[in-house]
Amino acid sequence: MTSSELASCNARFGDIRALSFSESDSGLVIVHVNTPLGRARVLLQGAQLLDWRPTGQSDVVWLSPLAQIAAGKSPRGGVPICWPWFGAHPSRADLPAHGFARSSPWELASAGVEDDQVQLTFCLLPVPDVSGVWPYRVSLEVSFTFGASLSIELRTRNSGGEPVQISEALHTYFAVGDVHDVRIEGLDGCTYIDKADGGLRKQQSGLVTFDGETDRAYLNTSRTCLLLDDGLKRKITIEKQGSRSTIVWNPGIEKSRQMPDLGESAYPGMVCIESGNVVDDQITLGPVEEHTLWVRYASSL
Ligand code: BG6
Repeated sequence: MTSSELASCNARFGDIRALSFSESDSGLVIVHVNTPLGRARVLLQGAQLLDWRPTGQSDVVWLSPLAQIAAGKSPRGGVPICWPWFGAHPSRADLPAHGFARSSPWELASAGVEDDQVQLTFCLLPVPDVSGVWPYRVSLEVSFTFGASLSIELRTRNSGGEPVQISEALHTYFAVGDVHDVRIEGLDGCTYIDKADGGLRKQQSGLVTFDGETDRAYLNTSRTCLLLDDGLKRKITIEKQGSRSTIVWNPGIEKSRQMPDLGESAYPGMVCIESGNVVDDQITLGPVEEHTLWVRYASSL
């Protein structure tokens, strides 16, 4: 089954020199992008970007050194797509956290190169056993544009006859020198839900800094964020459209010790800044309506 996916990718896109395809030890297809502007890898399962490195820099999008590439499981790192719910399912604890898109099979629908920029579009394939949980006719596509910066566009289309509510996020793991030395600019004054403090609603004052578990959903904000990293001496700009929530997460040392794919040595090297629409900001799509969530990440030294 998977080998035929690999063969199909090679047959359809093998003539694009910037692309190559491989299979993980667990038999999952990985799309490799390599251009003068940078390199990236995308796992076909979940259409999950694994890592991205613009030329002349170290990785900007981070994959845990302990990540496992396994069927039905989202690897720790990259950009998991949280959809059609974010976090725990609102009523069923047995359902996967952050929805089913990130652990489901997707198809590479199109690929193209222009001026060394590579664009890849993936479509979520019909999910067989999900109708009892998600009985809607909703399609999901994601496009990545790899250039000097990285853009990601997530498109949800309701093709059914009834309104549908979704929450979503591009759960991006950014590589940092040491999370304890980074600051995030752009959230001053925003209300957030502090999941590390019993879900209390609080107001951000000044820059976001890290000195322990941090798990926050900032609401009602479309602002650009800047990730200021003194350790790596770089600044990552996170622009977005069609997103009213920004989630900031680093589990801190205690929780990381309990996560086999993170651990105490790896967790300081990342911070998640996720663009999405969650809790108060979730989206209702009427029949034939579409919604687009767009982000652009640019890193400067
Ligand atoms: C964040 C959530 O977005 O994702 C956290 O706010 C959660 O609460 C984290 O722990 C990681 O989730 P997961 O399911 O990938 O381990």
